[in-house]
Amino acid sequence: MTRMGVFPVVCAEEAAAQIPDGATVAFSGFGHAGAAKALPKALAARGRNEHQSGRPYKLRVMTGASAQSIDDPLAEACAISWRTPYQSASGLRKMINRQEVEYVDTHLSQVPEMVLAGFYGKIDFAVVEATEVTTDGRVYLTTSIGASPTYLKYADRVIIELNRYHCVRLREMTDITILSAPPHRGGVHLHTPLSRIGHPYAEVDPRRIVAIVESDGPDMIGEYSPPDERSGGIAGHVVRFLVEELGSGRIPPEFLPLQAGVGNVSNGVMAALGESDEIPPFQMYSEVFQDSLIDLMERGKLQGVSTTGLILTPQNLQRLYDNMDFFAPRIVLRPQEISNHGGVVFRLGVIAMNTALEVDIYGNVNSSHVYGTDIMNGVGGSGEFTRNAFLSIYVCPSIAKGGRISSIVPMTPHIDNNEHSVQIVATEQGLADLRGLGPLRRARAIIDNCAHPAYRDYLHRYVERARAGHIRHDLDTCFELHRNLMEQGAMLPELDLTQF
Ligand code: COA
Repeated sequence: MTRMGVFPVVCAEEAAAQIPDGATVAFSGFGHAGAAKALPKALAARGRNEHQSGRPYKLRVMTGASAQSIDDPLAEACAISWRTPYQSASGLRKMINRQEVEYVDTHLSQVPEMVLAGFYGKIDFAVVEATEVTTDGRVYLTTSIGASPTYLKYADRVIIELNRYHCVRLREMTDITILSAPPHRGGVHLHTPLSRIGHPYAEVDPRRIVAIVESDGPDMIGEYSPPDERSGGIAGHVVRFLVEELGSGRIPPEFLPLQAGVGNVSNGVMAALGESDEIPPFQMYSEVFQDSLIDLMERGKLQGVSTTGLILTPQNLQRLYDNMDFFAPRIVLRPQEISNHGGVVFRLGVIAMNTALEVDIYGNVNSSHVYGTDIMNGVGGSGEFTRNAFLSIYVCPSIAKGGRISSIVPMTPHIDNNEHSVQIVATEQGLADLRGLGPLRRARAIIDNCAHPAYRDYLHRYVERARAGHIRHDLDTCFELHRNLMEQGAMLPELDLTQF
């Protein structure tokens, strides 16, 4: 063992040996960015060894959000018993759906408060990736802030992963503040996406740092699917709508900050949105900064971004590191309780754009549970943006799996965001503006504009035969499409799939 200042520097295996079975471990990481990398692998190896020796070894795992470098090795080693608040790893997803891992799928902005209030019990260890830690306890984080400032503050013991790969100038983008417990919380005085209210570092009691582990590697962020005809089609409708809103004066001429959710569709829509000459240069108040935004920023279309993570493939992260003089003044990295703060989203008048797996004919959105039972990723930050936005838009392709699935259904079997908050729905077929419409007109707008033509007759017939109340539904057949999909592999098995 060597020392770095007052802190012991150990290898990942020695650090892993300090974390016992059953411990609650809060890792850094949001959208795979800034996630601990060396220790999860060593913990997974320890888990496998313990299991081979007939001993239990499972951890309760918290992060900012998804973190493949943590979830993949630990899930493969069957070393997770409980997980929150968000994941998107295929192996872990299967274990959650087999009920081998307990998963608390929750709003991301609420995680720090849950920790502060003790709702999740005590945190035994925080494992946080950083570019530097000072002897007085200043921790300079890497590509995501997430919930790390809170984890560093409240964990009993702290292990810092010093990752030499990352640029030390990330601190120029960082703005960290932790909210106090109610009723002494006070305001969050952010009046523009780039306002700063905190420090460039997180704080930790240095006496709690039990180990420093050195690492050197990029974030595990895979390529997005290239923007295609579908995302281009969706973007076309969204752009036309936003241009009309500008023209009518409902969006002010200087435009409003945008938020864009995770995933291929959203990444593609943002790329296409940036191509439009009719949309003025804009800023973003968002939780993720994805690949397509690098180009937009370099071209001057995107003028500034508030985010909690730089969700960039290694080549794009390198592009950013090579040009920090340009990027550092244009990006602010914040804790997730601030990047996703409902009050700030409302104050700034954010235009929120998130992705649905499916939307029902009244505008209820399911983004997380296939068939209402099987988790995909989680609600993530969609709720705080959708509920508080000036305009709340949901996008998705009208069909999935080659037409076997319609993304427009009579009733969603799970709801992440409901019809009271969702205002606009867009697919590659068209856009439904639900503002001011009662249920029947909402249903007709969504079916006629957003559903794939092959599913429209079925959906109209559903509305016609449904029992009339304020909202028309037929409780005998509202999930017929889902049942067909589960039992026969397609929502409407009689459809000719070659037409799609
Ligand atoms: N039923 C079943 N599967 C469906 C489906 C439906 N109605 N709609 C899409 N899918 C499948 C797709 O076929 C695809 O499957 P594959 O991985 O086997 O190819 C998968 O779901 C993802 O679809 P894709 O079209 O590539 O979407 P995406 O990458 O844009 O992700 C979400 C879409 C909804 C999964 C993603 O946005 C998400 O997890 N959202 C919740 C969190 C969130 O909104 N956060 C917002 C703040 S950042």
